[in-house]
Amino acid sequence: MATKAPVKKTIKRPTVAIMGAGSLATFLAVALDAAGFTIAEIVGRDSPRSLQSARSLATRVGARGVTTRAAALDATLLWFCVPDREIGAAASALGGQFLARKLAGQEALPRFALHSSGALCSSELDPLRPAGVAVASAHPLMTFVGGSQPSLTGVPFALEGDDQAMRVARRIVRELGGESFRLPKARKADYHAWATMTSPLFIAFLVTLEEAAHAAGFTRKDARRKSLPIIRQTLANYARLGPARSFSGPLVRGDAKTVAKHLSTLKRHPGVQEVYVALARAALRGLPVKDRNALKRLVRA
Ligand SMILES: NC(=O)c1ccc[n+]([C@@H]2O[C@H](COP(=O)([O-])OP(=O)(O)OC[C@H]3O[C@@H](n4cnc5c(N)ncnc54)[C@H](OP(=O)(O)O)[C@@H]3O)[C@@H](O)[C@H]2O)c1
Repeated sequence: MATKAPVKKTIKRPTVAIMGAGSLATFLAVALDAAGFTIAEIVGRDSPRSLQSARSLATRVGARGVTTRAAALDATLLWFCVPDREIGAAASALGGQFLARKLAGQEALPRFALHSSGALCSSELDPLRPAGVAVASAHPLMTFVGGSQPSLTGVPFALEGDDQAMRVARRIVRELGGESFRLPKARKADYHAWATMTSPLFIAFLVTLEEAAHAAGFTRKDARRKSLPIIRQTLANYARLGPARSFSGPLVRGDAKTVAKHLSTLKRHPGVQEVYVALARAALRGLPVKDRNALKRLVRA
């Protein structure tokens, strides 16, 4: 007996239009599609390059790839995945159009709009409110880059905005495997400064490591290969033992003369020295060190 191909389960969920076709848009479109959501449109800017990106992402998820001008924008949910600096202008550009459509009695308007900036509040989407659109910000504490599709299992999403829009966002996050929490508007900038240090500036730190290795005569590629075992073990220790018990090296031992030697040789590499000193000061603030006064003098903490 022939077995039927599995049919993708579609329960009553919002249909989604995604504005932008960059890193987050690509991740979300693929993840939402895999979770059974209908992606109606991927909306790009009015330029051939933007349209090309929108079309190629749309093809992957069975959506229409369109420019803002040609978009129907009739999905239930509109998700802005554009750079932070573009969110307000993109919402303003649509606000008037939505209101005109509403006043003309058109019902096929988005009911909800989200953006995913960690730093900006839902008020960036205020221009959509007069058309009856409920708005929220939904920021995943995860990194999305081309060529990697991370799991969202257990990934926190910071939500803030209108109750109705947050309800929809919470449901989507749950279906994608993430965990929502409410973040007050006033804490968003501080929250996002932290978020930026968890991955983007952590990568900047790793690049500084390569610079330090290069100063010691290693190629960057060799430095990456040689340092990954200790980096991985450090992260594993941090997760299992916490920061203090994972802290080894000359500061915890109080080997001030060793630190003095580092600072002296790093004079030839001021960029690396700057990071070294900033991190040594952080260690003096938050980690167990011996011979604290000698170390403090060395890094002028
Ligand atoms: N990537 C992450 O790890 C991450 C994590 C959490 C939150 N976020 C948030 O996600 C949002 C998007 O970030 P991203 O990293 O995905 O940025 P991105 O990779 O630079 O992509 C931005 C996309 O928006 C498009 N775009 C720009 N202005 C537009 C407009 N006016 N109308 C339509 N499309 C427009 C760009 O297309 P063209 O330039 O080709 O026109 C591009 O496809 C930001 O708010 C960011 O804070 C990102």
